[in-house]
Amino acid sequence: MERKTFYITTPIYYPSDKLHIGHSYSTIAADTMARYKRAKGYDVFFLTGTDEHGQKIQRIAEERGLTPQEHVDNIVVGIKELWKLLNISYDKFIRTTDEEHVKAVQKIFNKLYEKGDIYKSEYEGWYCAPCEAFWTERQLVDGKCPDCDRPVEKTKEESYFFRLSKYQDKIIDLIKNNPNFLQPASRQNEMLNNFLLPGLEDLSVSRTTFKWGIPVPFDDNHVIYVWIDALSNYITALGYMSDDDSLFKKYWPADVHLMAKEIVRFHSIIWPAILMALDLPLPKQVFGHGWLLLDGGKMSKSKGNVVDPVILCQKYGVDAIRYFLMREMPFGADSSFSNEALINRINADLANDLGNLVSRTTAMVEKYFGGTLISDSEEGEFDDELIEMAKGLCAVVEENLDNFQFSTALAEIWKLISRANKYIDETMPWVLAKDESKKARLATVLYNLCEVLRIVAELILPVMPETSQKILSRLSIGKNDWESAKVWGVLPKDARITGGEALFPRIDVKKELEELEKISQSNKPKEEKKEELEIKPEITIDDFSKLDLRVAKVTECEKIEGTEKLLKLKLSLGSEERQVVSGIAKYYTPEELVGKNVVLIANLKPVKIRGVESHGMILAASSGDMLKVVTTDGNIPEGAEVR
Ligand code: ME8
Ligand code: MG
Repeated sequence: MERKTFYITTPIYYPSDKLHIGHSYSTIAADTMARYKRAKGYDVFFLTGTDEHGQKIQRIAEERGLTPQEHVDNIVVGIKELWKLLNISYDKFIRTTDEEHVKAVQKIFNKLYEKGDIYKSEYEGWYCAPCEAFWTERQLVDGKCPDCDRPVEKTKEESYFFRLSKYQDKIIDLIKNNPNFLQPASRQNEMLNNFLLPGLEDLSVSRTTFKWGIPVPFDDNHVIYVWIDALSNYITALGYMSDDDSLFKKYWPADVHLMAKEIVRFHSIIWPAILMALDLPLPKQVFGHGWLLLDGGKMSKSKGNVVDPVILCQKYGVDAIRYFLMREMPFGADSSFSNEALINRINADLANDLGNLVSRTTAMVEKYFGGTLISDSEEGEFDDELIEMAKGLCAVVEENLDNFQFSTALAEIWKLISRANKYIDETMPWVLAKDESKKARLATVLYNLCEVLRIVAELILPVMPETSQKILSRLSIGKNDWESAKVWGVLPKDARITGGEALFPRIDVKKELEELEKISQSNKPKEEKKEELEIKPEITIDDFSKLDLRVAKVTECEKIEGTEKLLKLKLSLGSEERQVVSGIAKYYTPEELVGKNVVLIANLKPVKIRGVESHGMILAASSGDMLKVVTTDGNIPEGAEVR
């Protein structure tokens, strides 16, 4: 009989820089699921990879003096090393620069175009020249670029569009009538209320403003923009639209696409629409987990608050990190990462609870029986409760893992571990050992403990593969067998049991926290300095002289109602008056500015910001959270030229 298949994916990550512990969370969660399904006998295909195109990657490569391809090649090496270190058992690593992917995406684009689901039109938006980025009206913050806070211009760009609006009703049906499709369930209302019910607009799917992307096959001026390229990885990785699509036939549709909540919209709305347009079956589930937060916010390179999983693995071992991440994040919600929480869990759950149970049990078998128990047995008080709990555990763990409730699954396993530690205190094997007539009872107590270890070792396998193997090998079990965790009494009475080193050494909390703090401090400032020194491309004196800079006196100033950042300034240039809108209300009160000499870019084209005319821009210096307007060193007539 053919085995049931299970196809699971992580997002494909942007190789802009090293990945952090947040990316590791998703990948470890997917790996846990993949290992669990394999243990259950499924034929698993586990996909991960990198999303390598786009303007941001192109810009980072340029800043580093590399071609985009060189840049992504470098980063991908590090990502693959990280997954190796974390024991990620992926079956394929797809890169969107892979030739097969590029070809297949072009075929997909063609097919959608021929079908009429992609058409050419104009993309109207707001353009931020310094960032070379388009924004929609809604994305602007106080009428300015949400990335750099500078003014934007209204622009039109030719673009291909995907007819997303056509699929709106079908997707509403999908999410409403198939509650399993989008999980956890809380994400369903989010999608319906925020995006689907207000109405979907067609989606711009090509760009002419940068080159690092897959060319639109029939129009060289355009590259395919983000989502058709990125989302398609889930089917191109299986050979869809290639000469050999046997994997696609075998594994599609995916059983689950796993990701964090910020990209659930793309996976539960845009991706099904693309698949509907291609007449393909839809994934069975999209699962959006929460964020791992640091200092109360999402981890991000630009905040300098990323935690390096490589350092953590080197210090505490891979399984400790995997355990912590899977145990700490509650089902579907956000959770905070802190060094303290990590170390406390390692000490309490791993060194104490699990580590002690393994050490005490195996050491006692060695000490009292030379490593092999005798077959005489005598049942006693406390046995039944322990055995019942152990026999029922596998079903509880399965139910939780099937629903991505990793944390609860582990908490249930740890209940048995605690119960077994208590059983040692209750039965007091060291007292039994003093009395020759209690030998049979002692053997039974230790056998029961070994059986608990066996069941625990089977059930932690998906999360902690190395530790699972270590414990099983101390019980002389060579190969894991998930189903055996449902049965009591599997271990032969004469199995060879061996002691050994502590699985998880206790950590000195204070010393370790100081060390980790030092490491994160030394990582922070370096990155900020690097950003400060990024000098823009060279210009000539002629370029500079196109700017007309003037000294201007602030004569009046007030906050613009309904905004947090904007001030309206009246400036005097001597013979002329100007009105300028400036986003500096967080740094200056209106009173502080009146009377100051500032420097104005006087020949900047006028714009309206929040409906208020702004003619010119005043100069300010900024660094981190600081901002100071540029003034003159002493008095000089208003209108004086600045060169
Ligand atoms: O979005 N907590 O790539 P990306 C939990 N290329 N998960 C986190 C996390 C955090 N703090 N930070 C990142 C992209 N993640 C696109 C995806 S898919 C067709 C294209 C994880 O490198 C989480 O899975 O920004 C999140 O969805 C993903 O990394 C985003 O990775
Ligand atoms: Mg992101």
